[in-house]
Amino acid sequence: MTQQVALITGASRGIGRQIAHHFAQKGYSLILLARDQSLLGRLKQTLPLQPEQRVKTIAVDLCDAPSVASKVQDALADFAQLDLLVNAAGIFRPGSSGATLGDFAAMLDVNVTAIHHLCQLCIPALALSEVGRIFSLSSVSGVQAFGGIAGYAASKHALVGYSLSLSRELAAQGIKVTVLCPDVVDTEMAQGSGLEPHQMIETQDICRAIEFVMSLSPAAMVEQLTIGRMRR
Ligand SMILES: NC(=O)c1ccc[n+]([C@@H]2O[C@H](COP(=O)([O-])OP(=O)(O)OC[C@H]3O[C@@H](n4cnc5c(N)ncnc54)[C@H](OP(=O)(O)O)[C@@H]3O)[C@@H](O)[C@H]2O)c1
Repeated sequence: MTQQVALITGASRGIGRQIAHHFAQKGYSLILLARDQSLLGRLKQTLPLQPEQRVKTIAVDLCDAPSVASKVQDALADFAQLDLLVNAAGIFRPGSSGATLGDFAAMLDVNVTAIHHLCQLCIPALALSEVGRIFSLSSVSGVQAFGGIAGYAASKHALVGYSLSLSRELAAQGIKVTVLCPDVVDTEMAQGSGLEPHQMIETQDICRAIEFVMSLSPAAMVEQLTIGRMRR
């Protein structure tokens, strides 16, 4: 098999970082995106890479659309191939009826609009792959109701709807689209959850879920996968 190429956002920390390790171990070449260049640089140093694997880091704010377009297009031209896009970058800000307009808009910008932009940029390259794939991190808050997080819930519900619609559209181009909806995952984002690490989903579980989806036969498609949490 020829070398596969994955673009992973949110790679500096948390779920995206774990996914970067996962695909490095699987032999992919990687385009890793987040704002914090020093964390991306440190990650690159720790990845288990074979000589033929390439890694490019892109330090950019996903809300800076012109910079994202320029840097991602340069990377795609450089790698001349893309097989997988993982949208793991995202933000959480608490608040429902009292949420500020700034927080509300920021979540829609990062958790929805920026993902749409990245999909637009990547779809032409993914369509050239034997099986192009897009995974996006929504949340259980994108499919179930929880109080106190209306802005986050709005962004994650929007992402589920966006991803499901994209899936129906892109199947004709041979691209499989999956939206992942996990409950609380053990990352920095979950620090205010009040849960102990052993009560949370492991970041590696997200990789296992991706692995499962990718292991299915060509005709099989998982458009949405909810990962719940044991409540003892
Ligand atoms: N942790 C959970 O409990 C949980 C549960 C369900 C779903 N999720 C979702 O899973 C995804 C990953 O969450 P996580 O727990 O890994 O979060 P995290 O540890 O806070 O990491 C978030 C990542 O997103 C990047 N990011 C945030 N804003 C960005 C921006 N404007 N431009 C570029 N990159 C940006 C961050 O990098 P920089 O700061 O370096 O830019 C970081 O790499 C999110 O969409 C989240 O909503 C998380």
